[in-house]
Amino acid sequence: MIQLKNIFKAYPLGHESLVVLKGISLSINVGEFVAIMGPSGSGKSTLMNIIGLLDTPSDGSYMLEKKEVANLSENEQADVRSKRIGFVFQQFNLLPRMDALRQVMQPLLYQGWSRAESEKKARESLHIVGLSERISHNPNELSGGQQQRVAIARALVTNPAIILADEPTGALDTQTGHEVMDILTALSNQGKTIVMVTHEPRVAAFAHRTIRIEDGLIQPASPHDGLRRADPSIHPSVPAATAKRSGAGQAQKS
Ligand SMILES: Nc1ncnc2c1ncn2[C@@H]1O[C@H](COP(=O)(O)OP(=O)(O)OP(=O)(O)O)[C@@H](O)[C@H]1O
Ligand SMILES: [Mg+2]
Repeated sequence: MIQLKNIFKAYPLGHESLVVLKGISLSINVGEFVAIMGPSGSGKSTLMNIIGLLDTPSDGSYMLEKKEVANLSENEQADVRSKRIGFVFQQFNLLPRMDALRQVMQPLLYQGWSRAESEKKARESLHIVGLSERISHNPNELSGGQQQRVAIARALVTNPAIILADEPTGALDTQTGHEVMDILTALSNQGKTIVMVTHEPRVAAFAHRTIRIEDGLIQPASPHDGLRRADPSIHPSVPAATAKRSGAGQAQKS
């Protein structure tokens, strides 16, 4: 589904350039749940932005659903972004002074759906994240966890194939973060492809595999990672099915 080959990203810095991604190659299959970890400044968000077509690489090949992204026109890229990808960010990125229902309707209205259809789908999406009782609340009337659930409902409402989550639990306490991870796990079990950045090993343990980035490069997997994730007791709340799939992911990779 996602195939990156030798991706570079450089930003101009005075007369020189700052190379942030230094040759990233990565394949993610349909239905995989991948966590990306690494130190602050290592290039995780830059990579996510490239995967999400919010930014373009300086060099390398990015094939998304078998199409070379660089060959798509701006309009085609915008279309892929709005129909195939759902974004979830650390700071929720909700619009102020707009209730939950309208927040979630926005992507559909943007795609040209009628108000009635948009509202119907938005209600369904809010129901999935357990927020049916809060549809008329503005962000300032919602807890952090509820705001993130609105953001997930908004990401889901277009039925995207891929969900990109950049530190989705970064602004949440452990318990609330856990609720968000339960929703992402359920989506993964329904077959969505999920790529998630996190700093927390406990959060990464929900994914099928973890990729580490350091200084713009993917680090080889350490055997310790496999051991840790193969042991379901490390995260007792991970359902057995997920733990099994995690094992399968490891086998595929090697
Ligand atoms: N638009 C930009 N122009 C110049 N440099 C940038 C730009 N965006 C990011 N950088 C630099 O690229 C590097 C990687 O940034 P990035 O946001 O990808 O890191 P990150 O791994 O997501 O870090 P964090 O864990 O803190 O979110 C940083 O050194 C940052 O300063
Ligand atoms: Mg980041």
